[in-house]
Amino acid sequence: MSLIRGRFDKEADQRVAEYSASISFDWRLYRQDIAGSIAHAKMLARQGIISDGEARTIIEGLTAIREEIEQGKFQFKTELEDIHMNIEARLIEKVGDVGGKLHTARSRNDQIALDMRLFVKEAISTTLSQIGEFQRALLDVAETNQDVVMPGYTHLQPAQPVLLAHHLLAYFEMFRRDAERFHHCRQRTDVMPLGSGALAGVTYNIDREFLARELGFSQLSRNSLDAVSDRDFVGEYEAAASLCMMHLSRLSEEVILWSSAEFDFIELDAAYATGSSIMPQKKNPDVAELVRGKTGRVYGRLMALLTLMKGLPLAYNRDLQEDKEGLFDTIDTLLSSLDVFTGMIRTLRVKSDHMRRAADRGYVLATDLADYLVRKGAAFRTAHGIIGRLVSYSLGKGKSFSELSITEYKKFSPLFEDDVYKITVESSLSARNVAGGTAPQQVARALAVARKSLGEAESGR
Ligand code: ARG
Repeated sequence: MSLIRGRFDKEADQRVAEYSASISFDWRLYRQDIAGSIAHAKMLARQGIISDGEARTIIEGLTAIREEIEQGKFQFKTELEDIHMNIEARLIEKVGDVGGKLHTARSRNDQIALDMRLFVKEAISTTLSQIGEFQRALLDVAETNQDVVMPGYTHLQPAQPVLLAHHLLAYFEMFRRDAERFHHCRQRTDVMPLGSGALAGVTYNIDREFLARELGFSQLSRNSLDAVSDRDFVGEYEAAASLCMMHLSRLSEEVILWSSAEFDFIELDAAYATGSSIMPQKKNPDVAELVRGKTGRVYGRLMALLTLMKGLPLAYNRDLQEDKEGLFDTIDTLLSSLDVFTGMIRTLRVKSDHMRRAADRGYVLATDLADYLVRKGAAFRTAHGIIGRLVSYSLGKGKSFSELSITEYKKFSPLFEDDVYKITVESSLSARNVAGGTAPQQVARALAVARKSLGEAESGR
């Protein structure tokens, strides 16, 4: 007979038991659940609610159960619904009636809130260190290719030359913000809900501060109804994960484009590429494509949680059980994506000559030519028009700017002089010597700042 069906005259219908059971996925909370129970048992003994001997028996039982689970010897039972009942029932089976004292001054409602918070806190730590690893890889690639020039794009049309390192540092910034979001999410997750009971608090003289200390929380929940029904922290993790996946997905898109024959800017290491079952020549960027694809799945998990929560009255409702698979899948997807992406970035080969050649095409110096005329006295709008006509003329002649003669230049404006040939990709880069710009000097500084921030982030993790 189930431990909690005293008021019923029969067992749950088999289909109901299967439909409502969560053990097939919430078994993953076993470490958090046991840690919470051990702290709770210690607290009950300290407060004289159970005896020291009883607490010892309970804690030994729980420790043995953790061992059983880790060795794959534990038999999870669907009819016991969830991880909490599976562990409690096994505890009573092992240590006898005293095991039944563990649930004094507690409810599964504050228990699951605790487990989820512990789980998310751990996930955040792992996420932060993996984001750090990924940023380190970006930085390493940027530093080894510090002189590599490529066309920067807007609308996917060649726009102005940039350093590859500058481009990679753009991603570094995105992941810095992602890390910040996870840090902030941790502050709000770091709240200890035990003592809330089912919804209204508990009738025993418990010590919540002790529980918080034992379990490594910096704050106590301030309202029992809120504590058992709040899953904001799950949503925040999923929202931060969604943005982080969005950033990975954008970079995936660039990896895919850049490894195409048309761009040919990079070559993926053979270990990070896949073949085709029919076309022997193919070297496909499947990892990047899967990251891009899985991003949609992570967004879906966030939408599911938001929708799940929006109509729930206070306090606990069983709907809340639906938070778990989405969270677990989000964590698994984000962590594995970061992990494989880090390896892919570290091993890809940069085809610097191809990037450079692309930067020499496409009239990416057009803005610099306009700025040149401005420095010689033209209004920017006038200069823009002149260079526009110059581009059109050059396209017609099939010439690049550097292939135009000074006489050709002068046909468009008397302001052009011999020094126009000093406008090069290099001059274009160094001219953008503004904080946050692509001038080599600025990028070198940005690389150093980024490197330093990684070290600091590591100590804050
Ligand atoms: N499996 C439940 C969940 O994940 C645990 C809490 C159950 N509480 C309850 N009153 N049925 O939400």
